[in-house]
Amino acid sequence: MSRALRDALGCFATGVTVVTTTDPDSGVDLGLTCSSFSAVSLQPPLVLWSLRHEAECRAAFTRAGGFTVSVLAAEQQALAMRFADGEQHERFASLALQRAASGRRQVPDCVAWFDCTTVNIVEAGDHDIFIGQVEEFSRRYASGLVFAQSRFGCVQHES
Ligand SMILES: Cc1cc2nc3c(=O)[nH]c(=O)nc-3n(C[C@H](O)[C@H](O)[C@H](O)COP(=O)(O)O)c2cc1C
Repeated sequence: MSRALRDALGCFATGVTVVTTTDPDSGVDLGLTCSSFSAVSLQPPLVLWSLRHEAECRAAFTRAGGFTVSVLAAEQQALAMRFADGEQHERFASLALQRAASGRRQVPDCVAWFDCTTVNIVEAGDHDIFIGQVEEFSRRYASGLVFAQSRFGCVQHES
């Protein structure tokens, strides 16, 4: 049931993001690949994403008070895999240092980023839903990475 359900849910195509924060205790930057990102509200500006309970970074995201969502560009598939599979301390290796005003890291050359204050964390089954208020954001005009049926693809930007 679980595998079949996951495969069926995976038929829904999403964008691909990297969500980052800074551990408030150690000051260490953390991040993970995330496809559960979604817009919620424009007034006030709210977004959400969900984090599985078993994630190593769960405690840091819960305590941090905020997060930054970088929407990955078409050519950033390798980065998506690194932030899903690699060791936490290796995920930012060779990434140019770029931070939002909050101090949280962004992924350089992403198509859009949203820096958020966490306004609510809702426990839902084996995930936590993080709801954030957008404090700062930016976009650039470029093709975006998409994910569906366990495969990556892209949406071409028309200029
Ligand atoms: C395309 C893709 C989308 C993902 N989306 C999510 C997600 O929405 N929530 C989540 O908790 N993990 C998601 N993951 C898995 C995490 O990136 C992965 O479990 C990561 O290692 C968690 O970080 P950790 O090292 O702190 O446990 C996704 C992975 C991939 C490849």
